Amino acid sequence: MKMSIPDFGAKPAVLRCARCGKFVDWDEARLQTVCACRPHLELPPVLVREATDLDRPAVRELFHRDFGRTKIVAFDEVLDVDAMPALVAVVHTDPSGALAYRLLGDALHIVALATDPMWQRSGVGGYLVVEAELLARRLNLARVVVGTTNDNLPALYFYQRRGYRLTAVVANSVVVHTHQQLAGFAGIPVRDEIRLEKLL
Ligand SMILES: CC(C)(COP(=O)(O)OP(=O)(O)OC[C@H]1O[C@@H](n2cnc3c(N)ncnc32)[C@H](O)[C@@H]1OP(=O)(O)O)[C@@H](O)C(=O)NCCC(=O)NCCS
Repeated sequence: MKMSIPDFGAKPAVLRCARCGKFVDWDEARLQTVCACRPHLELPPVLVREATDLDRPAVRELFHRDFGRTKIVAFDEVLDVDAMPALVAVVHTDPSGALAYRLLGDALHIVALATDPMWQRSGVGGYLVVEAELLARRLNLARVVVGTTNDNLPALYFYQRRGYRLTAVVANSVVVHTHQQLAGFAGIPVRDEIRLEKLL
């Protein structure tokens, strides 16, 4: 299928190689099984707070860099993460990760989550998700929901490790909304939306 909407271009999407530290695009990345031998590293404290107008350019850059766009297909909509409230994680003084969200019925919907590759596997994504869950509890919401794509095995792993359960597979949803077929993680075609939830 021909790529026609520039907003949905997948590159440069960046993960960090757990072995050599190199930054990789989605289609270059590979999955590996390892044991739990990695020691816990002492890393600088991560501060998570609501993003201000001053944080917006850095937050946009984080999403744009990881997803290649600021538009996300989720829950039958094309959502612009630029228009959503966001949490930002700061290490030292640098924005190291961001989580965009909205309210969706009785749930807080995590619309996008991205950690700067430099800070991946440092707890940043986990702290952002915990803060989003705290926010949902404060708002008396029943659930946190998130949509990811069929190729995104790291995200499916990440969320299930944190207690999220699969609720739906929306076959072909990404292709229908973007009119494109992109190569995702490890070159796997990005086709379907996979929804997960955590009951609070
Ligand atoms: C998915 C993603 C957000 C995860 O973010 P992250 O900041 O790397 O997540 P965390 O650091 O909290 O957790 C990752 C791993 O690092 C480990 N880790 C965290 N702090 C650590 C430390 N101090 N020492 C050693 N390991 C540590 C965690 O235990 C976890 O591993 P485990 O689940 O096997 O136990 C990130 O990979 C990303 O930005 N991906 C691209 C965008 C994306 O796919 N977003 C989600 C789609 S909605």
